[in-house]
Amino acid sequence: MRLHNFVAVLATSAFSSLAHAQISEQCVSSDVCYRLNIPASTARTGSGEIYLSIRGPTTNSWIALGQGSNGMDNANIFMIYTDGNGNVTLSPRHSRGETMPLYDSAVDAELLSGSGVQDDIMTANLRCNNCEGWQSNGRMDFTASSGGWIHARSSGGAMDSSDVEAPIAMHSSHGEFTWPFASAVGGASINPFAETNIAVNTTSGGENQSSINTEAVLWCHGVFASVAFVLLFPLGGVLIRVGSFPGLVWVHAGLQLFAWLLFVTAAGLGIYYGVIDDYMSQAHPIIGILLLGALLFQPLSGWLHHKRFIRTGGRSAFSYSHIWVGRVAILLGMINGGLGMQLSGVTTSYIIVYSVFAGIMGVAYLGAIGFGEITRKRERNTASNIHEMTSHKERATARRSSDA
Ligand code: HEM
Ligand code: HEM
Ligand SMILES: *[C@@H]1O[C@H](CO)[C@@H](O)[C@H](O)[C@H]1NC(C)=O
Ligand SMILES: *[C@@H]1O[C@H](CO)[C@@H](O)[C@H](O)[C@H]1NC(C)=O
Repeated sequence: MRLHNFVAVLATSAFSSLAHAQISEQCVSSDVCYRLNIPASTARTGSGEIYLSIRGPTTNSWIALGQGSNGMDNANIFMIYTDGNGNVTLSPRHSRGETMPLYDSAVDAELLSGSGVQDDIMTANLRCNNCEGWQSNGRMDFTASSGGWIHARSSGGAMDSSDVEAPIAMHSSHGEFTWPFASAVGGASINPFAETNIAVNTTSGGENQSSINTEAVLWCHGVFASVAFVLLFPLGGVLIRVGSFPGLVWVHAGLQLFAWLLFVTAAGLGIYYGVIDDYMSQAHPIIGILLLGALLFQPLSGWLHHKRFIRTGGRSAFSYSHIWVGRVAILLGMINGGLGMQLSGVTTSYIIVYSVFAGIMGVAYLGAIGFGEITRKRERNTASNIHEMTSHKERATARRSSDA
């Protein structure tokens, strides 16, 4: 090979490795994607800048990508939201656990050109100069073959805030993934996302990727369980105490059975979410599972009580189990709903509305129990007084109409 040819080949390959930025893209939904470029020198030495891009529709109030493999424990998070002036706000944050990540001024990161809001899509191209190490000794090894990342976003209106410390609503969708670095390493560009000569390797929903729509699951869980415990269960309990009409037992049974199905569904959703998201050691899910266990046989005990009652006209062991398990479970469930809302961090106004409603239903229920027990005692006294006059059969028929 002639010398000038050799030099030309050398120059070309050197130049192309400079211009050829390798970009790895992870798409967690059809329109939310994250991109990563690790310049060759950072991959070789383990320290230096890296480049990240976050892109998604402005129907999200915020979108975030974080470094870390323990969920929200000690994660280094890049959050973006609209700034209200056609650009995005880059808010580097740190999270200690499953609470709102707070602004972290120790992160040395800046927005690059190409960032902005266009056609209802927000894009942040950014360079991070110290992403190999962050506070509380979180580290990411860019010489390794992969690293653990988390991502999340929150549906809702645009935030239009340039405040990097702006308070944010909880995520509506989130997940974790392992990012293989091989296809992200290469080049020495000062803004790889602005290059025309780039190689993008896209992975969507890779095998290590998990993403659940927590908003829908949580919403159904909270609403189903609340309807069961603050509306239907107490209503069924009140009815059997204060009502007296033919077929009352079956109205009670139907209502409670429907509420019971709602609760079992809600419990299933709660367990699914709690296991995936590691919440199962909290008071709320533990009380919930106790309730599920306690109420599992409630329809059966109710039915057995009824069968016994038809024959004897009085309370049996089944009755006491059915009545007392029911009473305790309903009141405990009402309280547990409040604990659930505390756990998920919903707005205080929701908790207030819930508490007022639960309070009214709880008092109405306790009132009905008191009223029912007093009436029952009085009826039994009357019944024994008129014992000589009325046949047993007639009395039983009269009392069976309420079954209580
Ligand atoms: C998950 C389903 C159910 C729940 C949570 C439930 C709950 C309750 C509660 C809390 C009470 C007592 C009301 C009070 O004094 O505080 C009660 C009473 C009663 N339940 Fe149920 N119930 C359920 C299903 C059924 C079924 C399927 C039947 C009948 C087939 C039934 C029949 C009765 C009867 C007859 C009473 C009155 C007992 C008495 O006072 O002697 N229940 N139920
Ligand atoms: C097996 C039973 C249950 C389990 C495993 C469970 C689990 C959970 C979990 C993991 C959360 C979300 C916490 C978070 O995101 O920070 C939650 C929220 C909630 N839970 Fe439960 N729960 C159970 C039973 C109940 C019961 C009996 C109620 C009674 C009303 C209830 C009402 C709620 C409410 C209102 C929320 C807030 C929902 C929202 O943010 O929209 N749960 N639960
Ligand atoms: C957004 O801000 C970055 C950093 O200041 C800048 O480079 C970029 O051009 C801006 N985008 C728009 C659309 O103004
Ligand atoms: C993309 O990256 C994966 C994993 O790093 C690799 O197996 C695959 O060959 C790459 N594809 C392209 C087109 O570079």
